[in-house]
Amino acid sequence: MNKWFYFNFFVIVLAAWNLINKQLFSNFQPHLLFGTVGLVFILFNWTRHAVFSTIRSSSDRNKKIRFANLSKKVLPFHRWIGTSALIFIGIHAAFVINTYGFQWQNMKLASGILTALVLSGVVITGWMRRIRPSGRKRMAHLRLGIVMFFLVLMHLIL
Ligand code: HEM
Ligand code: HEM
Repeated sequence: MNKWFYFNFFVIVLAAWNLINKQLFSNFQPHLLFGTVGLVFILFNWTRHAVFSTIRSSSDRNKKIRFANLSKKVLPFHRWIGTSALIFIGIHAAFVINTYGFQWQNMKLASGILTALVLSGVVITGWMRRIRPSGRKRMAHLRLGIVMFFLVLMHLIL
C-alpha cells in the first residue's frame, strides 16, 4: 500500500477525533458539517495521487491494471468533486465568521484562510489543465495539492 493512503487515512482519523471532541454528533453545528464535507471531498480527490503513485511504483501488472481502471471510473467526477469542495469550504468559512467573527489572531481561522486560498489555486490550475493541458500546469496542480495537504493537516492540529 502506498504511503499516501496511510497519510490520507491519518487526516480522516484526526478530523474525526476533533469532531467527536467538539460534539458534532450530539450538538449540530453547520460550520463543522460543511468543513467535514469539504475535507472528505478534498481527500477523495487527493487519493488520486496515492493511486497514481501506486500505478507508477508497483511491479504487479494486475494491480496496475486494477488501479488504472478504478482511476478511469472516477475521472468524470474529479472536477466536480474538487469544485464542490471549494464551495463547501466557502460555506464553512461563512458559518465560522458568522459564529465567531473575523479574528485574524485566531490561528485556526488564519490557517483555514491560507488553506482555502491554496485550494482555490488547485481548482483553478485543475480547470486550466483540463481546458489546455501542459506539463507546467500538471506540476502546478500537483504541487499546490501537496502544499494544501499539509496546510489542511495544520488547520486540523491548530
Ligand atoms: C480547505 C480548507 C478547509 C478545510 C478542509 C477545513 C476543515 C475543517 C474541519 C474538518 C473542521 C472541524 C474539525 C476541527 O475543528 O479541527 C474545521 C474547523 C474550523 N475551521 Fe476550517 N477548514 C477549511 C478552511 C477554513 C477557513 C477558510 C476558515 C476561516 C474562515 C476556517 C475556520 C475554521 C475554524 C475557526 C474552525 C474551528 C471551529 C470550532 O472549533 O468550532 N476553516 N475546519
Ligand atoms: C480538491 C481539489 C483537487 C485535488 C486535491 C486534485 C488533485 C489531483 C491529483 C492528485 C491529480 C493526479 C496528478 C497527476 O499525477 O497528474 C489530479 C489530476 C487532474 N486534475 Fe485535479 N484535483 C482537484 C481539483 C480539480 C479540479 C476542480 C479540476 C477541474 C477540471 C481538476 C482537473 C484535473 C485534471 C484534468 C487532471 C488530470 C486527469 C487525470 O487524472 O488523468 N482537478 N488532480
